Amino acid sequence: MLEKCRRDQWSLEGLNWSQTPRSLSRFEEESIVQYFTNMAGIERLAGALFEEEGRRTHDPRLQEIFASFVRDEARHAEVAERLAHHYDRHHYRRYELDPNFRRFSPAFVEAIRHLTPEVANVYITTGELILDVALLRSLQSYVDDPLCDQAMHLINRDESRHIAVDFHMVEHYASPAYQAELARLPKPGLRERANGWWALSRLLFHARPFLRAVFFEPMDLVDPSGQRLLEAFRRIQIIANRSNVKERPFVRFMLLLQDAFRNPLLGFFFGRLLLRLIGTDARVIQKLYDEADLARAEAMSMDELCEEALALKNVG
Ligand SMILES: [Fe+2]
Ligand SMILES: [Fe+2]
Repeated sequence: MLEKCRRDQWSLEGLNWSQTPRSLSRFEEESIVQYFTNMAGIERLAGALFEEEGRRTHDPRLQEIFASFVRDEARHAEVAERLAHHYDRHHYRRYELDPNFRRFSPAFVEAIRHLTPEVANVYITTGELILDVALLRSLQSYVDDPLCDQAMHLINRDESRHIAVDFHMVEHYASPAYQAELARLPKPGLRERANGWWALSRLLFHARPFLRAVFFEPMDLVDPSGQRLLEAFRRIQIIANRSNVKERPFVRFMLLLQDAFRNPLLGFFFGRLLLRLIGTDARVIQKLYDEADLARAEAMSMDELCEEALALKNVG
């Protein structure tokens, strides 16, 4: 992996920026420029997460891998900004990062500092899956232009490495070796735990409006069938329900909230609150897998599951 990280670096100058975009309606242009503006923010956030993950690991190879991911995400942010500029032919309006994003971002970074690296990894893995498998791929089809295709091809190559390491870390955090490591660490004091809970509640409070504005609403436009969206969440549900992963405290907590939401009585009385805590849309909380999917995933290695998730990007 480290070899690949070193070898597959690239620069913005390798893209042909002199191409003229295909003609876009005003609505298309405004949507596309806004999405790329938000994408730049998402990439920077991903970079901040990898920086934090790098800080938390003692393995020098992993540290170097995460440092290269930080560079990748900075490059993706730059590409997204430049693409926003490229498609902004008519300057219909000013484009800014969505305000929900600006509220969510500092709460997120703060929470990650207080939470265990394992919880950080849950967020980054799900974030990269919904971003790569669903949003970026659908955005690429929507823009439908050679420059965007070239940029997405290179970004996807980087993201494949990121997702492979995200999956590897899911496996690592679920392993007996990590449990033993965790048991040896001193328990956090009351104050630190209170800070952690406060940071987590702020994160949960801001997550849903952020995801709506930056992810679900754009997806409704660029993936009207909702197919990619559901497929990405199906993958997440399958991994979360693997026997070693679902026992982890944070995953268990999230699965419990989802079960409560699906329960007709609890869903009726507490549906809105539960939705806010889970952070996503009701349509992706419904059970998207069956027992055969779980049995299949159980028999597969994390690497194989990762390969399969990545292959979804090439569908369609
Ligand atoms: Fe990225
Ligand atoms: Fe990434």
